[in-house]
Amino acid sequence: CALPLRKLFLKHLPTAMTDSTACRYGVIGHPIAHSRSPWIHARFAEQKQQNLTYEAIESAPEDFAGTLARLKKQGYSGVNVTVPFKHEAFAAANSHTNRATLAQAANTLMWQREGRKTTLHADNTDGPGLIRDVVFNAGFVFGRLPVLLLGAGGAAAGVLSSLIAVCPALVVVANRTREKAQELIERHYHWANMHSVALAACSLDDVLSPTHYLSSLPDQFNLVINATSSSLHGQALQFPINRLTHDGMLYDMMYGPAANDFLSPARAHGRLARDGLGMLVEQAALSFALWRNTTPPRTAPVLQELRALINAESTQTAPEKA
Ligand code: ATR
Repeated sequence: CALPLRKLFLKHLPTAMTDSTACRYGVIGHPIAHSRSPWIHARFAEQKQQNLTYEAIESAPEDFAGTLARLKKQGYSGVNVTVPFKHEAFAAANSHTNRATLAQAANTLMWQREGRKTTLHADNTDGPGLIRDVVFNAGFVFGRLPVLLLGAGGAAAGVLSSLIAVCPALVVVANRTREKAQELIERHYHWANMHSVALAACSLDDVLSPTHYLSSLPDQFNLVINATSSSLHGQALQFPINRLTHDGMLYDMMYGPAANDFLSPARAHGRLARDGLGMLVEQAALSFALWRNTTPPRTAPVLQELRALINAESTQTAPEKA
């Protein structure tokens, strides 16, 4: 389907590109029924007055390639990809942005049609979505201070390059399995050097003790981001509040009740604490902008409405990571 930009030059285009039917988008995941993304993209489409559809698309875990092939055949323009398919989405694409390559994971795919050839392009908007939420929505100021990223799975990989790009002094990646954290930082060494940012890897135990400090790591961090899925398994991480700087922030990529256990020590001590709902909305806005070749939609009213909706729901919602 034609992009709005092309509509500006309608008379110059062949008729096949002036098709006025709605462009099709969606989010692929497993499970996916709980996804807020269709709601978010519907708000963006209204706001930007764009003719598109966006659905939640369930894929069997072993059939991601089949799902992609079906959507391509059906003429989809692009899809978001969520758990557990972000690595497969990256692998399936023909071209990638630098941040997707560093993550080895993609949350945004778009089919690019040139003549009879169709290729798949991959991006990852999770990282810039996180930064936009932390900086623009929460008003947090990154100094040349240490940042701690908990986890080294797909969610952590998706944001590390963007964290480096805001130039903190140091990013420490801590993971239950230390080797995975090491692998992740090694892939980012060159990028970190370019930004004069130091990287370190350690195990979770090295940073979760309130009393036992490793001499190679800072005692305190200015921003601590939980990118693990531990709370999904009922084993929420407890970050010792004395290891957060006085004006530091705890951030959980989960949102709503799923983030409460991790964030409650910060809230109890009057410190900054933020769940991942803003990141979810921001990464969606960036995907929307890429697909529609437009500026990102305004996110503040969408985030406000979504927050109210979630707060109003009496039953505990299933968590969604951006
Ligand atoms: P996602 O795409 O959500 O990141 P993932 O790639 O499976 O999912 O990664 C899950 C992350 O949560 C990993 O960092 C994992 O640690 P391991 O690499 O050691 O498995 C972390 N994680 C999962 N359950 C955890 C728990 N109970 N305690 C601590 N970390 C946990």
